[in-house]
Amino acid sequence: MEKCEKRLEKSLEKISEVLENARQLLTFSEKDIEILKIRKDLLKSWSDEIIEDFYDNLLKSKKAREIIEKNNINLIKLKQANKEWYEQIVSGNVDEKFFKYSFYVGLLHIYYGVDNHLMILMADVLRRKFLKLCLETFDEEEAFEVYQSFSKIVAAFVGMTVEGYVFMLTEALMDILGMKPKLVDRLLKMELKQAIQYFRKNLI
Ligand code: HEM
Repeated sequence: MEKCEKRLEKSLEKISEVLENARQLLTFSEKDIEILKIRKDLLKSWSDEIIEDFYDNLLKSKKAREIIEKNNINLIKLKQANKEWYEQIVSGNVDEKFFKYSFYVGLLHIYYGVDNHLMILMADVLRRKFLKLCLETFDEEEAFEVYQSFSKIVAAFVGMTVEGYVFMLTEALMDILGMKPKLVDRLLKMELKQAIQYFRKNLI
């Protein structure tokens, strides 16, 4: 447990790294949080429609259905948790605590075996529905402004999830197996070099 706690301390560095990159690459800032917050009542009124659309799409995936069924996940509770997550974003409650929670949500998905690509694709479903509602509600300029602010936060969330996965795999698993992360990195690089060469020679 002590080791796990130490590792998680390290994961906090990852959260900061993702956020820093979101600030630099996506120009994510307090302004985005404010853009959503001043429209929070309207954006919250979309939550049921957005969540229904999200699950209508999610359940088209066999893998997603299997995960939900196998783990006896209560769909109503799951929708509620997702709704609260959405409402937190559009209410402007996007602070350090939110991003720590995002990292935790990422770990939870890894635990249930949700593939990274499912998270990435579903984030796109979520964004597109949000964009559609923005375009139906606001003039074009405002729609893109609101959409972009939302999109940046979702992107950071997905970034946290993916990093959580890589973090658990390289840091936690290798630590448990008694392998030094630097050695694993080196071995992985060698393997990747071979895979890249194979692709170049045979597949592309
Ligand atoms: C952008 C994509 C997604 C978002 C934003 C999202 C959001 C959430 C949130 C906020 C929770 C609740 C965490 C908590 O307990 O506090 C959750 C739990 C969960 N999600 Fe997702 N999710 C996404 C994609 C997926 C996908 C693709 C699956 C595939 C089946 C999935 C399955 C689950 C499961 C099994 C749980 C745990 C429920 C439980 O412990 O009762 N999610 N998700």
